[in-house]
Amino acid sequence: MSKTAKITLHPELEIGEIDVRVYGSFVEHLGRCIYEGIYEPGHPTADSEGFRGDVLELVRKLQVPIVRFPGGNFVSAYNWEDGVGPVEKRPRRLEIAWRAIETNQFGLNEFMSWCAKAGTQPMYTVNLGTRGIDAARNVIEYCNHPEGAYWSDLRKSHGVAEPYKIKTWCLGNEMDGPWQMGHKTATEYGRLANETAKVMRQVDPDIELVVCGSSNSRMDTYPEWNATVLDNTYEHVDFISIHDYYGRYAKNIETFLAQSVDMDRYIKTIIATCDYVKAKKRSRKTVNISFDEWNVIFHYRKSRPPQIEPWGIAQARSEAMYSVVDAVVFGSLIITLLKHADRVKMACQALLVNVIGLIVTQPGGACWRQTIYYPFLHASVYGRGRALSLNIKSPTYEDDEFGTVPFVDGVAVANEEEETITIFAINRSLEDDIILDGNATDYSDYFVCEHSILANDDISAGNTAANPDNVIPKSNGNAHLEGGKLIATLPKVSWNVIRLGKKGQ
Ligand code: AHR
Repeated sequence: MSKTAKITLHPELEIGEIDVRVYGSFVEHLGRCIYEGIYEPGHPTADSEGFRGDVLELVRKLQVPIVRFPGGNFVSAYNWEDGVGPVEKRPRRLEIAWRAIETNQFGLNEFMSWCAKAGTQPMYTVNLGTRGIDAARNVIEYCNHPEGAYWSDLRKSHGVAEPYKIKTWCLGNEMDGPWQMGHKTATEYGRLANETAKVMRQVDPDIELVVCGSSNSRMDTYPEWNATVLDNTYEHVDFISIHDYYGRYAKNIETFLAQSVDMDRYIKTIIATCDYVKAKKRSRKTVNISFDEWNVIFHYRKSRPPQIEPWGIAQARSEAMYSVVDAVVFGSLIITLLKHADRVKMACQALLVNVIGLIVTQPGGACWRQTIYYPFLHASVYGRGRALSLNIKSPTYEDDEFGTVPFVDGVAVANEEEETITIFAINRSLEDDIILDGNATDYSDYFVCEHSILANDDISAGNTAANPDNVIPKSNGNAHLEGGKLIATLPKVSWNVIRLGKKGQ
């Protein structure tokens, strides 16, 4: 007999309004993400500013609302001034975080221009590793102050007449990590972040600020780091940033498929920590989560990556080829973010291009979409509106690390304006297709517009330069809705998008 997962689709099972910035991404001066990724003067599709047109086209399709820059670990030893002004005068520097040479051909103004072309907003990170308050107040004046003082006038002299008015700023990157240049204790960092926040708000009171929480939930300092940092910064920040990359430590494929259980626990702990500090401070304000680095990582890497010689320029690093199973885990992470739509208000998939990227490029050549590009595309395009819990009752399996894990996970998004409902669902089972049996009586006047599936007989299949469309989603699902009952088959190891529209529209 087929396995069945029961769901309830009801407008009142609301989780929260989705902030579209949960579909953000990240570009860092790391490997070939910027150079040969988004920026490659001389590429056949490059525009007059050196931005790859083929990559821009794929990025625009994703409708990415916000992109974090310039790091990452990179930012913690970065002098932002090196990346502005006449390109020929910019210094080459030893880039300490990744032990590379940074040519500074691409900097702040190039990033802002690329954002405009990509149709996205910037999330800018200041260096609180080797630098601090002074550099932060200068860069915010350069970006956001109209004119009449040194840094804003310098921006004007660089050809940017109007201030950028960058709204979202990160106070450093992963400051809990011993690998971070200028790593600090929670108290040292919390004090510095608070004072930096105050100074930045003096320059521009309209900004929103993101403070560094944990780099992952396995850190020795987790979760105390988050409580201490918030204790020092609560009234001056709006978001706490958390990061994690999932799959690296999975012992087997079942555990790999269950990674979102870990993400879910992590988010719940950070929400609890934010609210603990809120109560402690008797504050009326709520700090939300910016999960501004997340991805699936290296499940199928069989061998060690090639040794990278130090002090090279844009050498390939962490260029994973993603598979079908990676896309399913990736989809489960998106579902988890949406299941916390009330508190996870921003998130950045990391990274956009080449470095564990959604998109892969060849220097001077083609670019193509990885398998994980598709769940991101679906969620960003169709996942706008109110997140609804599906109240799932799924068959389960036992996992050594995560205990009882449901085979099926999912979430729905109601877009009232367009009168559509979209269900995102995964099936983790390696053996069985599972029937989704939905009570949708409140949507009996809706019909199934599309049931798109990403799956493959070979779950390790991926896309390559030679075969860029080897794994793509297909609208071949059998979902149907009749008399308030939604029935669909979720194939084994699959990512599913079931789109419902109102009859007569
Ligand atoms: O993969 C990117 C790196 O991972 C970022 O630079 C850092 O923030 C994280 O540790």
